[in-house]
Amino acid sequence: MSTAPMSTPTVLVVDFGAQYAQLIARRVREAHVYSEIVPHDLTAEEIRDRKPAAIIFSGGPASVNVEGAPIIDPGVYDLGVPIMGICYGAQLIAKQHGGEVSRFEAGEYGRTDLTVNRSDVFLDGQSAQQSVWMSHFDAISKPPTGCEVLASTANTPVAAFAGPGLCGVQYHPEVSHTPEGQAVLENFLYRMADIEPTWTMGNVIDQQIEIIQEQVGSGRAICGLSGGVDSAVAAALVHRAIGAQLTCVFVDTGLMRKDEGEQVVEVFRRNQHIELIHVRAADEFFTALEGVTEPEAKRKAIGEKFIRIFEKAQGGIEDARFLVQGTLYPDVIESGSKHAAKIKSHHNVGGLPEDMEFELVEPLRALFKDEVRTLGSELGLPDEIVWRQPFPGPGLGVRIIGEVTPEKVAILQEADAIVREEIGKAGLEREVWQAFAVLPDIRSVGVMGDERTYGYPAIIRAVTSEDAMTADWARLPYDLLETMSSRIINEVDGINRVAYDITSKPPGTIEWE
Ligand code: XMP
Repeated sequence: MSTAPMSTPTVLVVDFGAQYAQLIARRVREAHVYSEIVPHDLTAEEIRDRKPAAIIFSGGPASVNVEGAPIIDPGVYDLGVPIMGICYGAQLIAKQHGGEVSRFEAGEYGRTDLTVNRSDVFLDGQSAQQSVWMSHFDAISKPPTGCEVLASTANTPVAAFAGPGLCGVQYHPEVSHTPEGQAVLENFLYRMADIEPTWTMGNVIDQQIEIIQEQVGSGRAICGLSGGVDSAVAAALVHRAIGAQLTCVFVDTGLMRKDEGEQVVEVFRRNQHIELIHVRAADEFFTALEGVTEPEAKRKAIGEKFIRIFEKAQGGIEDARFLVQGTLYPDVIESGSKHAAKIKSHHNVGGLPEDMEFELVEPLRALFKDEVRTLGSELGLPDEIVWRQPFPGPGLGVRIIGEVTPEKVAILQEADAIVREEIGKAGLEREVWQAFAVLPDIRSVGVMGDERTYGYPAIIRAVTSEDAMTADWARLPYDLLETMSSRIINEVDGINRVAYDITSKPPGTIEWE
């Protein structure tokens, strides 16, 4: 299923199992050309029906000479659409076009010296000697019929080739270790495929506004705001399209970070002028959490309470037929399967009930997270929202070990605010994936002034990560840790000790529960 905005020239990135397919798609978009990732087992007709302006074959882990290696329907070469191959993709073009791929004595991995022998349009403007990133054991020994060899390395005689409507590189132009790689992609897009670089966030806003207006008509839509960036940007975009037909619901669970509830309400009601139902439900959540200590039981109690409260709030706008969601492109990539993600008529994202019958409005379906952040800024959302760290649905409830009480939440909010403030002052907000404080269910003895203290420790958790699937503990400077520690102990009543969590994921998780 295509997420392409209508009439936008689209580049299809055919995925041959590379971890690089997403990166290629992003580099194309950085060249202001819209791109989508598709699986390699689409037929030529299915590819033609998507009307691509150009096609890029990704790399992949297989050898084209092994039986069962992923291939592409050869009919794709007859569509008259320019094709570029990268690594495995380049080898596949050679193999399917009268060329040859062989196993050489040595593969090439990492930084490799490349010599450009002929520039042609494809390598026009490229340095004759340059460093490129390689990762292959097979190499092309004979270029595809009708193509000329443009570049080589010590172990790869055909490191780049081009011919009418076809080109390929053995190296990876999409990675930052190939400094001139983006220019190669741009030569392909702008000059070989004749695509104009018109895809910008400004255009995305205009196109999405049209799409949303057409979908929603004069109907009413609701959007559950979590305080996170995705729902915030989706709401701001939909609001720009349908104005007062959108109502947002923000359930303040009492488990948000310090001042977060007020900030969300302030931004949406006063800055964005979006109609907002602000449900203050802290008491109800604390009652539901009384005596609950087991992590899963806590999550369940919070999730259930959330559903009931959202349902009640929605009662006030029961004619709403559309539900706005901040679903992102990585959630919908069809990679590896022909079967596109089906649009559900119900959903369970954000703890919403599965049996609510809504038509979904998902204006961010085609975008990566960093694009959503750019879009959010263009829509006038402040940095505090756009650059907010990921925050779990159950909020501070999973960062307080043992029973959650209002007193413990107040302590944790203060300690957490200091951690985040100091990360901000150190300019590390965008380097660190998440940085926060955890309040364990133990106390220890200390001494402050001449007084014996018996208080909670605060545990600082700061991690670096690409996607939260794996994470490493952040090597924060000692001075920064020192400042956090002394501020927390001096400023937060009830805390007399600070520890730093040096566990990566795996084996730990980012959150403590
Ligand atoms: P873990 O703790 O599993 O967390 O390493 C991975 C990422 O997911 C976030 N997280 C959640 N997000 N609802 C959410 O919306 C949740 O229940 C939840 N639990 C964890 C976490 O903050 C981290 O970014």
